[in-house]
Amino acid sequence: MPEPPFQLVDGFGRLHDSLRISVTDRCNIRCSYCMPEKDVHFFDRSEVLSFEEIERFARIAVSLGVNKLRLTGGEPLVRKDLPVLVSKLAALEGVKDLALTTNGVLLAEQARALYDAGLRRLNIHLDTLDRQRFLEITRRDELHRVLAGIDAALACGFGPIKINAVAVKGLVEPDIVPLARFGRERGIEIRYIEFMPLDAQGLWDRGRVLVAAEILRMLSEGIGPLEVVPDPDPRAPALEYRFADGIGGVGFIASVSRPFCLNCNRIRITSDGMLRYCLFALEETDVKSLLRGGASDEEIRRLVGQVVSAKWLGHEINTAKFVAPPRPMYSIGG
Ligand code: 5AD
Ligand code: SF4
Repeated sequence: MPEPPFQLVDGFGRLHDSLRISVTDRCNIRCSYCMPEKDVHFFDRSEVLSFEEIERFARIAVSLGVNKLRLTGGEPLVRKDLPVLVSKLAALEGVKDLALTTNGVLLAEQARALYDAGLRRLNIHLDTLDRQRFLEITRRDELHRVLAGIDAALACGFGPIKINAVAVKGLVEPDIVPLARFGRERGIEIRYIEFMPLDAQGLWDRGRVLVAAEILRMLSEGIGPLEVVPDPDPRAPALEYRFADGIGGVGFIASVSRPFCLNCNRIRITSDGMLRYCLFALEETDVKSLLRGGASDEEIRRLVGQVVSAKWLGHEINTAKFVAPPRPMYSIGG
């Protein structure tokens, strides 16, 4: 059994019970607000944690009070045999919530195996329902496969399924209302994520963020009035709204216009085994060397505790001091 403290509480009193695990930095599409078009440098396979290493780290985190796990990438489904990892993580005692964020391209092929491995919660990344615009945004002609993936996930019984759409001003305005309609027809919540300064090409600037208030206005004009859903979990980052006609709702991850750092409960491990206390952290801690260097569980536990203790209050996107982290989104894991 671990030595006390059993829980990961940082210097600001925030309890950390959620771990996001990036299983690869590779991706099969090239969203412009994430990846460069070409010459993407990926980690060598030997640098990437094995399933055994990920499972061990997750078990250690769970022993420290983590009970929510989310697999991310890059694109997690390009990692071979991902359902094997899912079943290992689903079997960990103490995991209450296991979820996956995917771009959906490979989902039709893998949905059944993922479901059978114990996965239930899915976030599928999709910005547009228009083939030409999908190609412009992601530089790949894969919309049909994403749509097939969503259908397959619904048919398997996954739930809740959410769609993540990145809100970039001057790019996605035509897609805001059609996506919300698509979600309403299928019982899927669309989550609009304000564009964050994590793109590989440095395209971000404040003027390119399509903020939640603006999207709300577009939705109420295009579909109908929305009302706030009182949040049952005040630590959840999304602002939730439902349509007043009772059909479906949307959420906003308003990282820029309404930062939620004060409620943060997350830590992250990158696919190359670096532990991060924040998406925007400028420092990270090498866990892989410990995992591969014969360290005991207790030593790793202590390191996780130290990382959480050193956590800052939050990103400062809204101040002149803000410095973008040296790794882009696909290499950190969203
Ligand atoms: N800003 C906001 N969200 C982003 N994502 C990728 N890049 C960005 C960005 N620059 C989102 C994608 C994906 C999730 C992991 O992160 O929607 O679903
Ligand atoms: Fe791939 Fe996700 Fe980045 Fe798009 S946002 S390029 S799907 S890792």
